[in-house]
Amino acid sequence: MRYCFLALILIVSCKPQQAEKEVENYPVLETMGYYQRFSQKLWLAGQNQNWELADFYTHELEEVTERLVEGNVIHDDYNISNLSEAMLLPKIEKVEEAIRKKDQVLFLENYELMISSCNLCHNATKHNFIKILVPNDSKIWNQDFTSK
Ligand code: HEC
Repeated sequence: MRYCFLALILIVSCKPQQAEKEVENYPVLETMGYYQRFSQKLWLAGQNQNWELADFYTHELEEVTERLVEGNVIHDDYNISNLSEAMLLPKIEKVEEAIRKKDQVLFLENYELMISSCNLCHNATKHNFIKILVPNDSKIWNQDFTSK
């Protein structure tokens, strides 16, 4: 019985350490890669008024964000999870609303707001050199690589 009790203490005291390790290793950069890819494809789907495809990419963005929020991720002292929940998630939902209405003008407006929230968070986390753009046909990537 005493050993059981000791084992229980051991399990309880091991668990939080394990959880912390997982948070430390959370693939923030991978998440950002998904964000960039899905947001670019989302814009292209919207340009083509392909609402079914646009809805798919919006859901992917939402899922990636929800996973990040649940991960309680601290990155360079910034709570990336809380920031994403407060800044990005509501903007993704706004894009979703425009897709439901099949309203291209509203879609573009809300898409721009969503991209602003990406950049606002880059500024807030001292990554202001990562500048995401609303794509246009002349650019392959939705990122500004200039130093201005
Ligand atoms: C909660 C804050 C936050 C939000 C919201 C956010 N980012 Fe990031 N992003 C970061 C941080 C922090 C890094 C740097 C990660 C690192 O240093 O490993 C980063 C890095 C990046 C990179 C560089 C990595 C690469 O693959 O080139 C890209 C691109 C990027 N983000 C795209 C986006 C896009 C697109 C969105 C919006 C859909 C977005 N981010 C939203 C915080 C955020």
